[in-house]
Amino acid sequence: MKNIELLKTVSLFWDLNEIELGYISDKMVSKKFENGNLIFLEESEGKNLFFVVDGSVKVTRLSKDGREVILAMLNAGDFFGEMSLLDGQSRSANVIALEETEVLSLKRDDFLVVLHDYPKIAIQLLKEMTSRLRKSDRQIVSLSLSDAEKRIALCIVRFADEQGVIKNGQVTIPKIPIQQDIANMAGTSRETVSRAMSLLTEEKYIERNGKELKILNYKNFIKEFDS
Ligand code: CMP
Repeated sequence: MKNIELLKTVSLFWDLNEIELGYISDKMVSKKFENGNLIFLEESEGKNLFFVVDGSVKVTRLSKDGREVILAMLNAGDFFGEMSLLDGQSRSANVIALEETEVLSLKRDDFLVVLHDYPKIAIQLLKEMTSRLRKSDRQIVSLSLSDAEKRIALCIVRFADEQGVIKNGQVTIPKIPIQQDIANMAGTSRETVSRAMSLLTEEKYIERNGKELKILNYKNFIKEFDS
């Protein structure tokens, strides 16, 4: 696919026309990463903005005792790397591919010119950053809960919000992350995630089929775990 077609899937550019997209896509370079590849390291210098066009990535930091903490997972259509470009500080987190992933990158100077020339992008950027702040606020509250099953359920709500498809009151999440990554997001162990998933399945809250997870009654699920 040509860059311009790929850019149409990126939320930041939804308000732009073909000509504007063409101008931006000319400045972008495509890169591919394998599952587990580091895209960039926390504290390194921010030189590019990245757009996920295929695959997914995790945004991580290491805790004082060396455990991985997952701040977010980003999918096709999302962007990352904007923070250090905007405030001039170093990268705030590591970004690692969660599968075979293709990204488009835009150099810092080009990004700043594009932001200046297309205020519509700046507005979309603010919307997305606001949405990320809301999710982080929710995660902070969730991490203060002592009940690990509830923290895991809230992670599932987040995945539903980010990639779920709703039909007849059920939400299907096509690609649920591996249990270790859910554990690193919910602040618990892989074993606890495995146990909680089995309980949620037994209690008929969810159904699992390979990588797909279905929340059987979304309204009930939210009432039970997110209120
Ligand atoms: P930057 O600081 O340049 O490099 C790490 C990137 O991870 C950061 O830009 C954001 O794009 C992304 N990031 C950091 N924290 C979060 C978060 N809480 N939610 C989503 N993305 C984040």
